[in-house]
Amino acid sequence: MNQDAMKRQAAEAALSYVEGGVIGVGTGSTVNHFIDALAEHKGRIEGAVSSSETSTERLQGRGIPVLDLNAAGELSVYVDGADESNEQLELIKGGGGALTREKIVAAASRRFVCIADESKLVQVLGRFPLPVEVIPMARSHVARELVRLGGTPVWREGFVTDNGNLILDVRNLEINHPVSLEQEINNIAGVVTVGIFAQRPADLLILGTPDGPRTLGRT
Ligand code: A5P
Repeated sequence: MNQDAMKRQAAEAALSYVEGGVIGVGTGSTVNHFIDALAEHKGRIEGAVSSSETSTERLQGRGIPVLDLNAAGELSVYVDGADESNEQLELIKGGGGALTREKIVAAASRRFVCIADESKLVQVLGRFPLPVEVIPMARSHVARELVRLGGTPVWREGFVTDNGNLILDVRNLEINHPVSLEQEINNIAGVVTVGIFAQRPADLLILGTPDGPRTLGRT
């Protein structure tokens, strides 16, 4: 079974956690499968809050109403992918550059269901370069601070986030204490969001595998 089929399997399994009301929808190739599957059951929900312009376009293209988070209130569930997850369901996200809105929608949701293929599960976070969204004028300052933390930041040149900011991808970090590193990087002046999702980890991780979906966490 190829990686894309495993992503689709995890995405379709997440449908059973959609119970109605307004839901949060993330960003990425795994979520694209989820949106396609959700379109077949769109009568079940009032609409979706989207974490990116790209997902908004896909949701609307499939007839799923997209709502403003400010009007939606607390969301019942948020479904999103990840670049890495450890066994505690602490994540690295932001490979697609949507990390800030993803973190906001995750924070505003009662349950966070993460969907991925099995290759995303790791012992220690950090093999995937850690995305950090920064205010443009702070790019060099933040990069120097990230070097002081032991990382090697690389500017994702030519990429602008939906919020008009830049991304630094930080290599060579072994993230043994995700909660404290998340706080430390978020405290650097000029950082909008770091792509560590540990203070608010996923509640459930559904992994696509050749043997069928594997679920970790609190069901
Ligand atoms: C988007 O910014 C990311 O957080 C994605 O959720 C993450 O990159 C996973 O993407 P795929 O589903 O494409 O692997």
